[in-house]
Amino acid sequence: MNILVIGSGAREHALVTALRLDTSVDRIICAPGNAGIARDVETCEVDATSAQAIGDLAAELKVDLVVIGPEVPLVAGAADAVRAHGIACFGPSAAAAQLEGSKAFAKQVMDEAGVDTARARVCEALDEVAAALDEFGAPHVVKDDGLAAGKGVVVTSDRDEAFAHARACLDRGGDARVVIEEYLDGPEVSLFGITDGTTIIPLEPAQDFKRAFDGDAGPNTGGMGAYSPLPWAPSDLVANVTEHVLEPMIDTMRERGTPFSGLLYAGLALTSKGIRVIEFNARFGDPETQVVLARLVTPLGQVLLAAATGTLADLPPLEWRTGAAVTVVIASKGYPESPVTGDLIYGLGEAGAIGGVSVLHAGTRAQGDGIVSAGGRVLSVTAVGDDIEAARTRAYEAIDCISLEGSHHRRDIAEAKRSG
Ligand code: AMP
Ligand code: GLY
Repeated sequence: MNILVIGSGAREHALVTALRLDTSVDRIICAPGNAGIARDVETCEVDATSAQAIGDLAAELKVDLVVIGPEVPLVAGAADAVRAHGIACFGPSAAAAQLEGSKAFAKQVMDEAGVDTARARVCEALDEVAAALDEFGAPHVVKDDGLAAGKGVVVTSDRDEAFAHARACLDRGGDARVVIEEYLDGPEVSLFGITDGTTIIPLEPAQDFKRAFDGDAGPNTGGMGAYSPLPWAPSDLVANVTEHVLEPMIDTMRERGTPFSGLLYAGLALTSKGIRVIEFNARFGDPETQVVLARLVTPLGQVLLAAATGTLADLPPLEWRTGAAVTVVIASKGYPESPVTGDLIYGLGEAGAIGGVSVLHAGTRAQGDGIVSAGGRVLSVTAVGDDIEAARTRAYEAIDCISLEGSHHRRDIAEAKRSG
């Protein structure tokens, strides 16, 4: 089987790494990829925001399966464009990807599906914003309705800051909307389900660290690290979320005439009142994918192909490695506000030589014999071990081998005291 993977982050490097272990996969091409991916598989250029460019590339390469990593091409209709060429695609249609593309749409479907989430008001004007902020009280949660690469959400007890963010979202004009919602307490969990639109198979849960700095300080980012499994989570968590969240969502999407196939990512809060959905994403999460796939034993290509061709029900249960995985993101100076790029990265070889470690690339680019930073999140240093502590120790050992001018990373990823 020949597979085209779309994207250029550490998530895609993790996908490529897992696909390479699948003996049914003959050829992997990643577009556009990054410097680390290019060391492992073929890469080629593509405008990864253009649905048509992705569809045309898939047809030109005559691949058997396209796996779309990021949300932007999905929302733009890349999966529809690939399928229009008669090629199987792992990823939802543009209509189904609205579960991520519009927070207001996601709330509506959750309501129809009877899935528990934060109470919310969708606002189009500042007087509605003011009323909603007062209705829910502090801490305030203000979300840009559209795609914002994980940075469109402000959680704050400062009403002025909440109001200012809402104003900035609405100031974009057009049909800009902002969602104000009730604050959810409790630890967060990311649970992915792989689905063909009818059957949904949950993966192992992971926890992501969204804030930029240690102790959950600083602004929200795309994600600064993750670990899996979650030893502190209730033992029935996966079964519970599958029954009460994932299955009702895909059933409702199918009944609406917009079946969702690909990866449904539930961002959950385990609150004092029960499990609540924070958000849905329509694709693998980054950096959670790095730790989830590090533990998957079942050949990934066959799972993704089964999802893309409607045959997931025939698949045997997934197999998982015992032990744990931890990933720590190295980000550029200035990330998330204004990342500085173009600096040489040192120590990659030394870090990657540590047993159980894979240095997954995100924003990197080859320059001569070296590799330079080329994005906000630069590397996702991933390690497996017999338990979280062992994986964590290795990940930080590898991190300490790497140097990049001005870069920053969190030192508290997967620390025991965070758990629960
Ligand atoms: P989202 O893009 O919706 O996942 O939001 C990004 C992050 O903001 C989440 O991972 C949470 O940490 C935080 N967040 C979002 N919604 C809420 C909420 N209703 N209550 C508390 N925190 C939230
Ligand atoms: N880890 C958060 C995301 O992928 O959106």
